[in-house]
Amino acid sequence: MRKIDNNSSFFTLYSSFIRIFATENCKAMESRSLVTIANHSREKIEYLIRMAQEFEKHPNRRLLEGRIVATLFFEPSTRTRLSFETAANRLGAKVIGFADPKVTSGTKGETLKDTIMMVSNYADIIVMRHYLEGAAQYASEVSPVPIVNAGDGANQHPSQTMLDLYTIYQTQGTLENLNIYLVGDLKYGRTVHSLLTAMRHFNPTFHFIAPDELAMPEHYKMYCREKGIKYVEHQDFDADTIAGADILYMTRVQRERFTDLDEYERVKDRYLLSRAMLSKAKPNMKILHPLPRVNEIEYSIDDTPYAYYFQQARNGLYARQAILCDTLGITLDDIINDKTIIS
Ligand code: CP
Repeated sequence: MRKIDNNSSFFTLYSSFIRIFATENCKAMESRSLVTIANHSREKIEYLIRMAQEFEKHPNRRLLEGRIVATLFFEPSTRTRLSFETAANRLGAKVIGFADPKVTSGTKGETLKDTIMMVSNYADIIVMRHYLEGAAQYASEVSPVPIVNAGDGANQHPSQTMLDLYTIYQTQGTLENLNIYLVGDLKYGRTVHSLLTAMRHFNPTFHFIAPDELAMPEHYKMYCREKGIKYVEHQDFDADTIAGADILYMTRVQRERFTDLDEYERVKDRYLLSRAMLSKAKPNMKILHPLPRVNEIEYSIDDTPYAYYFQQARNGLYARQAILCDTLGITLDDIINDKTIIS
């Protein structure tokens, strides 16, 4: 796992500078940024879900006309980048950015701080994915415009969590008292880390299903104990183990996070969900996956009523419309009273 302060001297250098000289204005912008879901109250989560519901009814509006959204992706992405860009386009904003850092002046040695300062000259908001944990926090400290964390290393993925929460609410009719089974790469999986943090408000029972090598990190288990979140750990993955699930959240074993590829080879195919394993599933159970899938869910499951991962990805559009609007100061009332809807 890569950490900013260990491996990136430019972050250390500039973050020291910023901590000393940050202006009040920068601090205000930092607070408008979405770096982690841990700062969101229950009310804030419910508010964003209400917003997303409005966007699901009417996604095409002009609420962000005249705004520029920058998408800076230092790591590959299909869903997150394209759904943020679709969200911006459907709201009338314009989009600038890059999907591959190789085409930027970072290859000439430009630091992340300078890149953020440059882009903030052009855009009203920056959506950023970065391979280093803490990069979004750092960017939010140096940026004069809000930063939305689109995933930072193995740390957090808060916009994914908002679409996951929206999907859980949509399929279960509640976020309360659910049995949520997290399967696969719980060590490096930023989506499961964010989801666990957000669910603290809703009295869940988590089941962590992972091999030893990819177990939920101790600090997240400690977080559960501190917050009174119930959890059970398993290594078996069969019909009996998952029979109690309301949500079965599958994850990919992420080759790109391993420093030892032999270890990756040992664990990569440990948990494949087969159609036969659904024989004891509860009728309300839904299978989610942040995607991409590699070898976690048999394709024969796609046409069962349990599969919900493609609708989940679609919900990314509505959740990210809500995030962009909220971050740019558009309220739920603005959305409800909006006269710019395009049918
Ligand atoms: N879920 C998710 O983050 O997918 P992408 O990596 O394709 O953005």
